Amino acid sequence: MKIIIQTLVVMSLLIMMTPQVLADLPPAFEGRKLYISHCQLCHAADGKGDGPLAKAMRIDAEDLTTVVRSGSDNNLIKIITGKGRHASTHRISASMPKWEEVFSEHQIKALVAYLRFLSSSKHDLIGDPEIGLQLYQKYCAICHGIEGDGKGIMTELLRIKPIDHTNPHKTEKLDNKELATSILDGRGKFMPAFRGVLNQSEVDGLVSYIRLLYQIWGKLEDGGLVILMRPHTVDMNEENGDSLLRDPSCKSKENLSEKGKMNAASIGEQFKSRGIPIESVLASQDCLAKETAKTAFGQVEPVEFLSLMETIPEQQADSYTAQLERRIGSYSGKGNLVLVK
Ligand code: HEC
Ligand code: HEC
Repeated sequence: MKIIIQTLVVMSLLIMMTPQVLADLPPAFEGRKLYISHCQLCHAADGKGDGPLAKAMRIDAEDLTTVVRSGSDNNLIKIITGKGRHASTHRISASMPKWEEVFSEHQIKALVAYLRFLSSSKHDLIGDPEIGLQLYQKYCAICHGIEGDGKGIMTELLRIKPIDHTNPHKTEKLDNKELATSILDGRGKFMPAFRGVLNQSEVDGLVSYIRLLYQIWGKLEDGGLVILMRPHTVDMNEENGDSLLRDPSCKSKENLSEKGKMNAASIGEQFKSRGIPIESVLASQDCLAKETAKTAFGQVEPVEFLSLMETIPEQQADSYTAQLERRIGSYSGKGNLVLVK
């Protein structure tokens, strides 16, 4: 069961990584704001758990920097929202408020992204990332990209390849001072020196903002994970309705909508550009799933046990579930195993 939970974690990740969402604020950046206004009173600014309110209430608010590391996203979401908390791996006392009514799903994910950052980054946030956000968009995005992925509009013209600031594998290696020095003194031929343009606290704000561009991609780069994807856009056509989804002939042109195709292609591109290793890609027999897999990864192995459970007899469903668990439960490949369902 644990593996299934791990799989779902990665799935929700993929949904967060679709381009529309990437255009929003970086999740960890947004999560930090919510953390400061709602959590640090008890859990403390650094997440160590001895915030002023926890002391006054004489409660033991856990050290989030250690407990978060071992928890799955799903489990964390349960603990934070309070929804299904009883089913989480350990009992949580009532002194941890239930936040379900307070935050949207998107905000909860942002909080989780920030908790992940808090529990895995070696570097402190030394400046105000709010200032950093403004300055990054103003001075840096043309080269480093609006989202910090190193793909700004000037990169082709100048033939430069700035590092991807959203990749913790790359940024974690550089300490705060190294980042600040690059900004103040410039680097190489094209990274301009900002000494005289920006003061120290502005540079510190930029350094903190770069830290919060952190995205969990790095995890996938290590391989060995099972990634579950769901194609989620179909052109609904009056005549065919949702039957297109189950069309076994794969002849309908509308199987995967244009938007769905773009999403799949963009996910595939991101995997490629980040060098995320893929061992194999399995998909259900549905055309939509097969097409998504092919569009994204250029390969697909259709398997029966990924069939949608609603469409098959119960007994068969049980046997498929068992096969699925056998396949992913014992998974120990070097690259990632992708399932498209
Ligand atoms: C009123 C104080 C208080 C506030 C505010 C608070 N917490 Fe907690 N939190 C606690 C306490 C106490 C625990 C430990 C409960 C236990 O283990 O029984 C806890 C536990 C947790 C855990 C579980 C840690 C583990 O053991 O796995 C997470 C995650 C967490 N809090 C996240 C948050 C987030 C995110 C916020 C802000 C949205 C928040 N908390 C706000 C008091 C608080
Ligand atoms: C004209 C394009 C350009 C602009 C504008 C620019 N950079 Fe860079 N930056 C680069 C290039 C290219 C590199 C890689 C230099 C090298 O290592 O040769 C780089 C490197 C860096 C580095 C060193 C670590 C790394 O990522 O390789 C940091 C930190 C950095 N830039 C931050 C910023 C910040 C913050 C701003 C805005 C205040 C900014 N840059 C503006 C092109 C640019």
